[in-house]
Parts: sequence; C-alpha cells; structure tokens
Amino acid sequence: MSTSAHPDGIQQGNRLDPWFDAYAERAHNLRASEIRALFSVVSRPEVVSLAGGMPNLKDLPLDRLAESAKRLITAHGAQAMQYGSGQGWEVLRDRITEVMSYDGIIGADPDDVVVTTGSQQALDLMTEIFVDPGDVILAEAPSYVGALGVFRARQADVVHVPMDADGIIPEALEQTIHDVRASGRTIKLIYIIPNYHNPAGVTLSLERRPIIAEICMREHVLIMEDNPYGLLGFHNDPLPALKSFSPEGVVYLGSFSKMFAPGFRIGWAYAPHAIRDKLVLASESAILSPSMVGQMAIADYLSDYDWYGQVKAFRSMYAERAHAMLTALGEFMPDCRWTVPEGGFYTWVTLPEGLDAKSMLPRAVKARVAYVSGTAFYYDGQGADHLRLSFCYPTPEDIREGVRRLSTVVNAEKELVDMFGTSGRSADDGPGVGPRRPIGPAGAPAPDTL
Ligand SMILES: Cc1ncc(COP(=O)(O)O)c(C=O)c1O
Repeated sequence: MSTSAHPDGIQQGNRLDPWFDAYAERAHNLRASEIRALFSVVSRPEVVSLAGGMPNLKDLPLDRLAESAKRLITAHGAQAMQYGSGQGWEVLRDRITEVMSYDGIIGADPDDVVVTTGSQQALDLMTEIFVDPGDVILAEAPSYVGALGVFRARQADVVHVPMDADGIIPEALEQTIHDVRASGRTIKLIYIIPNYHNPAGVTLSLERRPIIAEICMREHVLIMEDNPYGLLGFHNDPLPALKSFSPEGVVYLGSFSKMFAPGFRIGWAYAPHAIRDKLVLASESAILSPSMVGQMAIADYLSDYDWYGQVKAFRSMYAERAHAMLTALGEFMPDCRWTVPEGGFYTWVTLPEGLDAKSMLPRAVKARVAYVSGTAFYYDGQGADHLRLSFCYPTPEDIREGVRRLSTVVNAEKELVDMFGTSGRSADDGPGVGPRRPIGPAGAPAPDTL
C-alpha cells in the first residue's frame, strides 16, 4: 500500500486510511477475532452455528425484568440515570460477595470488589496495570480468544502452558515458569479459566487447585482467575475457586453474562486490596463509572428474584444440549476425539491426523455448519488440528443436525488426506496442543456424565 508524500516530507498514510501512519504501534495489534470474522456468514438462517458462545436467554423471565426496570426508573430514576462510584455501587458489591460464596469464597469484603463493564473490561484493566510491552502472560493451551486479543492489544507476549482433561498441568507450569525466566523474560501474570473452560471444556480438578495456587505463590506469579461459567455445572456445584486457596495471590474475575445475561454488561474483579486500588483508578480513567442503571437492575434481580433457581434452569438446559452434542459426536464422528464437559458451553474436538480445521472451515460453512478453528485460541498459530464446538445456543435437534453435517465434511477431508497423504502435521497431543487425555469414542459419553 503506497503512502502519499506531504510537501514537508510528512508521511500521509495510504489510500484506504489516510491516518494509517499516525496510529500508535499498539493499534496495529488490534485484530478482528476469528469468531467475529465469521459472524456475517454463520448468522444466515440455513447455517447451524456451533461457533458462537452467546448464552441462551430463551428462559429468561423477561416480563419480570420489564417490571423491575419500570419500578427502578419510576422510584429511583434520578440515581439510576446518574454517574455512580468508579468502584461500583456498594449495594451490588455486597450482593456480589454473596454470589462468590457459591464458589467457596467465604466472607469476601465488598470493599475489595470492583464492578466492571463485563469481565472483559476487568481483563483489560488487569493487563493495563501489570503488563509492559514484551512482558509475559502465561495462559492455558488453548485459551479464551477474547483474552488473547486483550493481551495482544496491550503488547504482552503469551506463553501457553499445556492442559489435560484435569486442567492446567502443575509440572508443565513449573517447567514453563523456569524456561521463560531462563530466557530472560519477565512473567507478570498467569491467566486461568478453571471451570468449564472456554474453549477446552475441561475443569481444573480439585486436587490440582491448591497445587497450582502454591506453585504460583512460591514463584511469585499473580493468578488471574476468570470464572464466568462457574455456576453452570450440569450436575455439580462449583469447586472452590483458586482465590479460596490463595487470597493474596489471586485476582478473581466474575461476570453476570452467563449466569444471568450479558445485556447490562456487568462483571467484576475481586482483588487483594492494593491491586483493587489500582484497578479503581484505571477503571475511572477508562470509563468514569460502570453503568448505574445496569448495576441497579442486577442488584434488584439478585435481591427479589430466585436467581439461583434461574441458574438451575440454565444448567439443565445446557446439560440437555451438551448431551445432544456428545451423543451426536459419538454417532457421527468416530474418527475424532473430544472433551466431555461437565458444565459450560463448549467441547474441544481433535480432528483425525492431517486435517486442518482452519482450511476446512469454508467447506463446513458450505455444508451449512459453522465452528471455530482451534487456531483462534492460541497466540502462535497452533491448534489447526482442533476445533471448538459450542452447544449453548442451537436446539438439541439442530445440534444433532449440525454435527451430522460436520461429519460429512470431516469424512470427505479424511478421504482426501488418506488418498493424497497427510499435510505433514501430526495430530497427536504434544505439549501445548490441547488436552492430553481427551475422551473420545472409546470412552463415549456415558449419559450419566451429563
Ligand atoms: C472465559 C471468558 N472470559 C470472559 C468473557 C467475557 O465476558 P463478559 O461478558 O463478562 O465481558 C467470556 C465471554 O465469552 C469468556 O468466555
């Protein structure tokens, strides 16, 4: 792309964007996620989308929410429509400590809670206050695409730590910390999604939680624990949060997006006191204060509605959909392996050797099914032998049909690879290439695991 010359020798961008040369260096790290790039195609009605992670809100009590909004504006309009505290409304912060008690965080101090615009903003604030360009953030392999986008935008370097079916592997974590430090780089944070992982679908086991907390404390690596799906176990209550094992070593991020709804864009960070101070300052500088009307509506929902009953309704709806997906995978995709989630929205599929999820995607969309290629969930282009399937949104019937369509594409690709040889890439689960013990057809999803 040519740049046009200014008479004074000043560079003037290019034909598409005259301000191209004016952007800060970090702006060049902003990229559309692979998921967003897909949006226009996969939202066509004829396509079964197993790609997006939007919560399914069909069972939300909309009448009740409308009444609450009316009451709120009528009785407390002047407050609801005003700016609020940068740290967040104290009534909601109080309610949030109750919500966290379901995660084994007992007796949390509301003064250490910072309300944010979704947990996505908390991820950004944490990166802003801790990470200088080139600093290392450790993240599971694979990891949440939206977090990787934040880390990239803030010029962090991400090093992935291998996981298996029980979550992040303690020995691999110790080795990675050692290797990164030996290479002269500085580790600032480790980012962990302990429950019903996005995208891997696995949960960090109870046994490993204190071990991971202890390693990070000993090695002086701050944990950023991201837990938007924690309450959405199909049959089990949440395991105790990492924060409960290491109160001073963990910043816990929570969100109302999946246990209630993302529309109000309310999440939070629960941090050791000194970090909380910095988060408030950074948040005030970014947004002044979180939405007051959203905070009041959520506080009302938590106070006056059986919100936990609603969570249970969501749990069984997602369990039914997960069951439909795992059953269909067992029936139609015997050559693949996949993780068996016990909650949340996702399963992580390993393709037969030689197949490439990224290059296969256009053919899948042509066959009217969409997924997200595993490459979206790595910082460094790994993951082409994996794909993420989400079961949260389509009906069980559509999920089954989507998996059937996907199987025709996978089978056709496999035939080609068998005929013409592999692409040379191995689909075995070496370090950093996804869960090491994914449960595939051999351990086909027993109905009672869901
Ligand atoms: C693991 C994870 N963290 C954070 C978020 C962001 O959620 P929020 O809507 O609270 O910003 C998501 C959204 O999908 C997610 O999957």
